[in-house]
Order: sequence, then structure tokens, then C-alpha cells
Amino acid sequence: MNRDIACIGAGYIGGPTMAVIAQKNPDRKVMVVDINQARIDAWNSDNLPIYEPGLDEVVKSCRGKNLFFSTDIAGAIKACDIIFVGVNTPTKTFGEGAGYASDLQYWEAAARTISQEANGDKIVVEKSTLPVRTADSMAAVLHTHPEHTFTVLSNPEFLAEGSAIRDLLDPDRVLIGGPQDRRGKAAIKALVDVYAAWVPRRRILTTNVWSSEMSKLAANAMLAQRISSVNAFSALCEATGADIQEVAGVLGMDKRIGPKFLQAGPGFGGSCFKKDVLNLVYLCRTYGLDDCADYWESVISMNEAQQKRIVARTVKALFNTLAGKRIALFGFAFKANTGDTRETPSLTVANLLAEEHAQIVVTDPKALPNAERDLAHLQNITLEPDPYRAAEGADAILLMTEWDCYRTLDWARVYAAMRKPALIFDTRNILDLPALRALGFNTLAVGRA
Ligand code: NAD
Ligand code: UGA
Repeated sequence: MNRDIACIGAGYIGGPTMAVIAQKNPDRKVMVVDINQARIDAWNSDNLPIYEPGLDEVVKSCRGKNLFFSTDIAGAIKACDIIFVGVNTPTKTFGEGAGYASDLQYWEAAARTISQEANGDKIVVEKSTLPVRTADSMAAVLHTHPEHTFTVLSNPEFLAEGSAIRDLLDPDRVLIGGPQDRRGKAAIKALVDVYAAWVPRRRILTTNVWSSEMSKLAANAMLAQRISSVNAFSALCEATGADIQEVAGVLGMDKRIGPKFLQAGPGFGGSCFKKDVLNLVYLCRTYGLDDCADYWESVISMNEAQQKRIVARTVKALFNTLAGKRIALFGFAFKANTGDTRETPSLTVANLLAEEHAQIVVTDPKALPNAERDLAHLQNITLEPDPYRAAEGADAILLMTEWDCYRTLDWARVYAAMRKPALIFDTRNILDLPALRALGFNTLAVGRA
């Protein structure tokens, strides 16, 4: 076996992960391949297809040396004996399990291509997030060409967008699940060696395949559940006069709870939390565990309620009508430091505002190209890169994404540009509300009366 690495899927996960693996393993060739020519062209250009702090530097340090992006999938499969599969696994929109189960068509197509093109034994690494026991199906698909041996490992990724490079360079843990027989253990060791180039050995956990697949879904579900829990408290805070920032501060000082993921806001977005929790719900129902399914499903319904509540409070604060009013959304990315808008709360809020016949203006430092695509179905939408211009004539600003650039705006200038009375709704709790009130703003915030 050779030490070289291929990755099928050059997306948010394949690109950054392989760039860091290549940088830390200069003696291995790393080939990232995709069916999407435009995406590959972008990876080979100065304008990478995704925005991620620190990514440009890592890619530039090894692209063309030991890191290669191409559409030659067959060539990469033949050239490399370790093959990661990092293709998309979105929620199914049709047929059995629609709205819950993962759509595995891209993953199966990738497995079939590996099977067809392999020229020898391969280690196949599931990098995509997949339902528990998918490795079984992958093995079945791969063995349609039984002349070679394929060992399937699960190596889920825990990075978060916006901090992908930091998370990859300094992960809490790397998880590798594999068969517990001799061949499986040898494959696990081969993959451990890739990460041991920079990750301390004690942080590289090895488990059986099913535990690994399960742990990834469980980790995302636990994180999503914390956000829904804190958002549920935020609603009660608004009703009672308690302050969610103070409550979260108290909760976080309990070492058993911990301070992270207690930030109330417009609900979780991103490509994975909703998808993975829905997939967990589907798995529970498949195994007849309806109580467990209902429990996890409530995490999603709480998230949806949070976004509806934000719009309902906005309507109430603007004299129960938004018709014809100009509402500015500050931030369209699902979180700061990314241009990604998949499942962004801003889109749900924009849709609800449009139902109220508001005129919507959207500003964001990185996400406007994606916003243009996501909002194409709406009328009365303006995209405006400059936040000061976005504020001109607006009745309200809804601060939706916690970009640093919004913390440091000249809010007096923003206020002067708006129609009066001017409302600011800080859905992320990042602004100094007393200072804004002193300028003349009416203010709202999530989890604060
Ligand atoms: P993505 O859509 O950005 O990228 C997937 C890529 O796979 C696309 O470029 C697509 O063209 C390519 N692809 C699809 N089918 C292919 C095929 N048959 N052959 C070659 N290329 C193919 O998705 P993503 O955000 O990178 O997510 C990928 C997986 O990683 C998902 O399962 C996701 O749950 C998981 N994940 C993502 C993140 C994240 O931060 N985005 C974090 C952890 C895990
Ligand atoms: C999340 C997980 O954090 C990663 O570990 C995981 O690998 C990834 O999903 C995945 O599987 O794709 P990501 O969605 O990129 O990462 O970003 P997060 O930082 O987790 O934020 C998700 C959403 O939750 C964002 O909309 C964010 O604003 C929101 N959030 C986060 C809160 O509302 N409150 C918080 O306290 C934290």
C-alpha cells in the first residue's frame, strides 16, 4: 500500500481538511477531487470557493507541491490507497424518509466509482456524516468488485465553520472507527498515522465503526439541544424580566454544564445540525424508539419557534404592521466568519418578513453572493454591501449574524440614517443596548425584556 491520500468531495469539509492533512504530511500526496468543475477551478485559483479564516495561507503553502485539486476522480482513486469520501449527505426531499433521512445518492455514487476504478486494495474513509451502520452498506457496494479488498473506516469531522482551520490544527479529538479484526486494526493504524503527524496521540480515539458513526450524530444532537434549551430559557426570560445573558453566565460556571454553546440567538443554522438531528429522529423511528424520536424532534421545533418569535416581536414593536416598512437584516451568514448560508436563520426570518409585506434589505460582509441565490424567490429584496446604506430609511435593523464589524459600527451614523422611531433588534446579544438607547434607538434583544 502507498501512503497517498485521495478525497472525493471538495466542499466545506473536503477542502479545508485535506489542506491541513497535506500541510502536516508533506511526504504524502493529497488529491482532492470533485465532479464540480467550477468548484475545482476555484480551489486552483486565488479566489477559493469558500471563505474560512486562515484557509488561503494553508492552501497556498502546499497547493501544487503535495496538494492537488482536480476532476480526475478515477486517476486519484488509482493513485492513492487511502480514499476519503467527503460528499454531501443532505436531508432527503423525496420518497421514503423524505424530510428526515439522509439522501445517500452522492455517497453511493462515490462508493460505486471507487469500486469500479480501484486497481488494488484500498482503505475507504467515511468523512461525510452518515447514519449509523452506513459502513455496512458501503462495504456491500464496494464488494461488487470483489477482486480487491476494501476496508471501510469511519472518521467523522468535528470542525465548525468559521473556525475550521483552528479546529483542524488543534482538535479536541480525532475519532477513527474501524473493524476490530486484523485487517481493520491495520487500517486504523494507517489512518492514525496520518493524524499523528500533528495531533497528540492521546486525542486520537479509536472505536468500532458503529460507535464512531453514532458519536458524530450524537455530538451534533447534543450541541443543537443545548442551543434549543438556552433559547427556550430566552423566551421565558423575555416573559419574566430575567436576562438570558446573566442566566447563561450562571449556568456556564457550573463545571458540569460548562460555558460553551449557551449563547441564545436566532436559532441554529448551518448545513448539519438540523440535517443530523432529523436523521437521528429517523433512525430512532426506524428502530421503533418513538419516545427518543419525539425528544430529538422537539430540538428542531424549538429552533423554528425561536425564529417565528423574533418576527412576531418585531411586528409588535412596529405597531403591529410591517407592510411597506423597510427592515434591514444585518448578517445573512448562519454564523460569523463564514459566507455559508445553508439553513441560515436569516433566510427563515426574511421569508416571514416577506409574508408581512415588508421591504427587506440585506447586508453581510461575506454572504451576499449566496444571499442573492437564496432570496431570488422573493420580491422587495435589496442586497447592500454597505451597512450604512442598508440602514438608510429603515424602520428597523435586525442584527442576525454576530460579525465583529457590526460591534464596531458608528451607531450614531446608523441612527441618523434611519426613519424614526428607529428600532434595533439584537438577536445575537452583541451590542451595548443602553448606549444604543442613549442614541435614541428603541431596542429589542433575544432573552432580555
Ligand atoms: P459540500 O456540499 O460543501 O461538498 C460536497 C462536495 O461533494 C460537493 O462539492 C459535490 O460536488 C461533491 N460530490 C458529490 N457527489 C460526488 C461524487 N459522486 N463524486 C465526486 N464529488 C462529489 O458539503 P460539506 O459541507 O463539505 O459536507 C460534506 C459532508 O461532511 C456532509 O456529510 C456533512 O454532514 C459533513 N460535515 C460537514 C461539516 C461542515 O462544516 N460543513 C462539518 C462536519 C461534517
Ligand atoms: C457544527 C458543530 O459545532 C461541529 O462540531 C460539527 O462538525 C459541524 O456542525 C458539522 O457537523 O457540520 P457549525 O454548524 O459549522 O458546526 O457551527 P457552530 O459553531 O456549531 O454553529 C452552528 C449554529 O449554532 C450557528 O447558527 C450558530 O450561530 C448557532 N449557535 C452556536 C448558537 O446559536 N448558540 C451557541 O451558543 C453556539
